[in-house]
Amino acid sequence: QVDEPENAGLVLYNTCSIRDKAEQKVFNRLQNFKRDAGKGKIFGVLGCVAQQEGEKIFDRAPHVSLVCGSASYPRFGEMLVQLESGSRRVTGLSLDTEETFDTPFTRRDNPHRAYITIIEGCDKSCAYCVVPFTRGPERSRTSESVINEARGLAERGFTEIQLLGQNVNSYRDPSPAGWDFARLLAEVGRVRGIRRVRYTTSHPRDFVKAIVDAMDENPVLCDHVHLPVQSGSSKVLASMDRLYTREEYMRRVEWLKTARRKYSLTTDIIVGFPGETDRDFQQTLDLLDEVQYDSLFSFKYSPRPNTAALAMENVVPEDEKQRRLIALQEKQRAIQIRRNAELIGGTQEVLVEGRNQALAQWIGRTSCNRTLNFAHPETVDSLVGRYLPVRVTRSGPNSLVGESVTVV
Ligand code: 5AD
Ligand code: SF4
Repeated sequence: QVDEPENAGLVLYNTCSIRDKAEQKVFNRLQNFKRDAGKGKIFGVLGCVAQQEGEKIFDRAPHVSLVCGSASYPRFGEMLVQLESGSRRVTGLSLDTEETFDTPFTRRDNPHRAYITIIEGCDKSCAYCVVPFTRGPERSRTSESVINEARGLAERGFTEIQLLGQNVNSYRDPSPAGWDFARLLAEVGRVRGIRRVRYTTSHPRDFVKAIVDAMDENPVLCDHVHLPVQSGSSKVLASMDRLYTREEYMRRVEWLKTARRKYSLTTDIIVGFPGETDRDFQQTLDLLDEVQYDSLFSFKYSPRPNTAALAMENVVPEDEKQRRLIALQEKQRAIQIRRNAELIGGTQEVLVEGRNQALAQWIGRTSCNRTLNFAHPETVDSLVGRYLPVRVTRSGPNSLVGESVTVV
């Protein structure tokens, strides 16, 4: 690896195709970088745009020599050898479901937090979503391999683990042990040395009560659930093919609100899905009032190749999507300002992630996944990687400020 892309012999673009904007960005960057600094370099495109566009990328960006979708990463070494021996067009595009994504090569830059992929692909067919086409059907790793990786990470000093998958809740251990997600989560939480376990992303349909029960049992399983709702209108949810109604979603929210611990709840919302009326959108705004999310990601609906929604009528105009996005974000901002202010005066444990030199603050993250920046009374070398109690003194819409209450 080099410090500046200008110094590289091989330039790889890791890509996302979830919305059109991300995809356009790749092609813009590919052209601009080639023009400005691309002489004599070899170019490769990896990830979901590679999977989706395949060999068409060679037409759109003729200076690219390698196109490799995420299911082909285990063959990546082989492909580099082909490139080195002079091949001009190397591809890895099969969505081979036999190939496991269990790899010993994972590079981790953060020495405290590690991601572990437990399931790849998605068997749902949400009408707006390109993921089933770019990631293929669901494949789960064996529980033994996940637990072994978690233990290995703990031995190397990692204390936080984030379990990953497009739909982690439908994890199903392919080995005879046959663990479901709730069991896997509970067991990862028991690995000695691991102090925090998070997971993403959940699908409400597969988010069962046993998951909340497992979290209630063990505080190592963090106080946060990301549960994408997408819309507050049951009519829109049905045309999105999300497989739950607003009421069914609210039942899951109730499990969390009545649980033993206080969980922070975050979500994803799409505005301007085809057929979304003012009334439907108002139901989404009402849902925000009802649920009181701690944070949310909001997106304007973006048409994606191969998806069912492409053929739908009553497309919402761009300016209306924009209006709805802003209305949604304003409402949520007010909710966050109020919710975060309620935390002032309390003490929360943070994992220290870094230092903001300009503000003379340490950057911490709470179990609820909030950023809590804090001052520490003593001059110390580094607190990064430590777990410390911090008293909250101020709050904003997106983060908290506090002071450390221990002497180290
Ligand atoms: N348009 C807009 N947002 C989308 N998402 C997924 N597909 C689309 C699309 N076509 C959003 C969903 C999902 C998040 C990862 O991205 O909200 O939960
Ligand atoms: Fe896409 Fe998630 Fe729906 Fe799967 S469950 S199709 S990844 S939005």
